[in-house]
Amino acid sequence: MTDENKSTNVVWHQGEIGQADREKQAGHKGAVLWFTGLSGSGKSTLADAVEAALYKRGCRTYVLDGDNIRHGLNQNLGFSDEDRTENIRRIGEVTRLFCDAGVIALTAFISPFQSDRDAVRELNGDRFIEVFVNTPIEVCEQRDPKGLYKKARAGEIPEFTGITSPYEAPEAPDIDVRTADQSLEESVQQVVHYLEANGFLSVS
Ligand code: ADX
Repeated sequence: MTDENKSTNVVWHQGEIGQADREKQAGHKGAVLWFTGLSGSGKSTLADAVEAALYKRGCRTYVLDGDNIRHGLNQNLGFSDEDRTENIRRIGEVTRLFCDAGVIALTAFISPFQSDRDAVRELNGDRFIEVFVNTPIEVCEQRDPKGLYKKARAGEIPEFTGITSPYEAPEAPDIDVRTADQSLEESVQQVVHYLEANGFLSVS
């Protein structure tokens, strides 16, 4: 599916208002906070909490969550390697639109493959921030908020990440969050501090 390009004879349309205009109005840059980690690592919890902190500061934000997107936009995709790659490719395109809209998009997808995450970074340029939700699998399995590890161990879920399907940890994440060693509030501060320190929360 990913190699197919049926989109011929189309010409890019440039609108009157651009990303810089929208960012100026928002008072901050468009950005993609890409949370990656195992199921149960805390991606959605952290993305939600960071969004709340940014919202309070008046930022324009939007969370894209794996389980939710798989109910709609990506409901035709499963969990084979190929489908996961397509899942991430589509979300990468969506984040590009949010970024162009001057919004801080926060994504919570396992996104297990480094090459897929690199492709999204390529697409989003210096607006892409890879956040490794670095929670050991033992802790994720202990938490097991959806009971999926139990099912996977019982052989009821094929190709389950970390058990029967690989997870490639980020080689050089922009932010490395150790959720097992610090509070949620500390993790939120770590991410917000990164945005501040790297000039995302103001326009130049
Ligand atoms: S990804 O690998 O393609 O990035 P995504 O983040 O969209 O995955 O979806 C993961 C969510 O789907 C998990 O949090 C879990 O609730 C559910 N899920 C169902 N089957 C699987 C599976 N085989 N492996 C991982 N997650 C699964």
